[in-house]
Amino acid sequence: MAGTQRLEGKIAAVTGAADGIGKATVELFAREGARVVANDLPGSKIDETIGGIENVVIVKKDVTDADAPAAIAKAAEEAFGGLDILFNNAGTAAGAPVDELSDELWDHVVSLDLTSVVRITRACLPLLKKSGAGRIISTGSVMSSFGGQGMAAYTASKHGVLGLTRTFAVEFGQYGITANCIQPGAIVTGITRDVFSEDPSFSEYWKNKAPVGRLGQPEDIANAALFLASDDAAFVSGVGLLVDGGAMQGI
Ligand SMILES: NC(=O)c1ccc[n+]([C@@H]2O[C@H](COP(=O)([O-])OP(=O)(O)OC[C@H]3O[C@@H](n4cnc5c(N)ncnc54)[C@H](O)[C@@H]3O)[C@@H](O)[C@H]2O)c1
Repeated sequence: MAGTQRLEGKIAAVTGAADGIGKATVELFAREGARVVANDLPGSKIDETIGGIENVVIVKKDVTDADAPAAIAKAAEEAFGGLDILFNNAGTAAGAPVDELSDELWDHVVSLDLTSVVRITRACLPLLKKSGAGRIISTGSVMSSFGGQGMAAYTASKHGVLGLTRTFAVEFGQYGITANCIQPGAIVTGITRDVFSEDPSFSEYWKNKAPVGRLGQPEDIANAALFLASDDAAFVSGVGLLVDGGAMQGI
């Protein structure tokens, strides 16, 4: 079904696009008229999940690799002639309690969930400046604002993503670029669907914690990304947008 074409003429790049939030966002952005560079790991299922979508080109790269940021920017420029919307979304929720946290795990999570965001944004900045109305959207978490058991590296990284977002907003506003961070609650995706199905008490906990009474779906986050990517959000910048069904509002 054709969308409302809210992104007609726009060029977007989405990382972590083979599954979950990234996949739903590529599908929605393409339906809304955008041309999209979709990134995921070599060996991921990206060809099967979004390979057939018109006006989508795929870049198979690990976002933590040294050459990944330039490859994403180059693909946008070569395939579509520029970039208007960057969605930094690839991430992991790997974790361990602090007293069991290895340096290797810490480095892996920080490099993927935080450092890749600044590296990819830096590489795409010249194209976003040229756009004149660039959009940087990054996937944080409710844990960009709160702590979590066994989630030190994730929590630190996702706090960092919100901090980076605020600095992007301050530094890049002069180029017409906005930067915002989406803070998802419990969403059923590749990193959570096994836990939710294998541990009903975990799933029930998050369902009950959200006043709207359900788990989130990838489309809930894609819809927020669409708003932030659209002209409607031209005056929204530096924001952490909780998309969690109200889960973090009560005590
Ligand atoms: N699912 C949730 O409840 C939830 C909550 C808060 C935040 N998030 C965040 O949402 C983002 C998307 O995750 P999701 O929940 O959709 O999970 P997902 O597993 O469904 O999708 C993540 C995608 O990122 C890809 N990826 C992983 N490492 C990569 C790398 N090094 N380079 C390129 N691609 C890589 C994976 O292959 C996968 O396709 C992540 O940043 C995650 O931290 C998710």
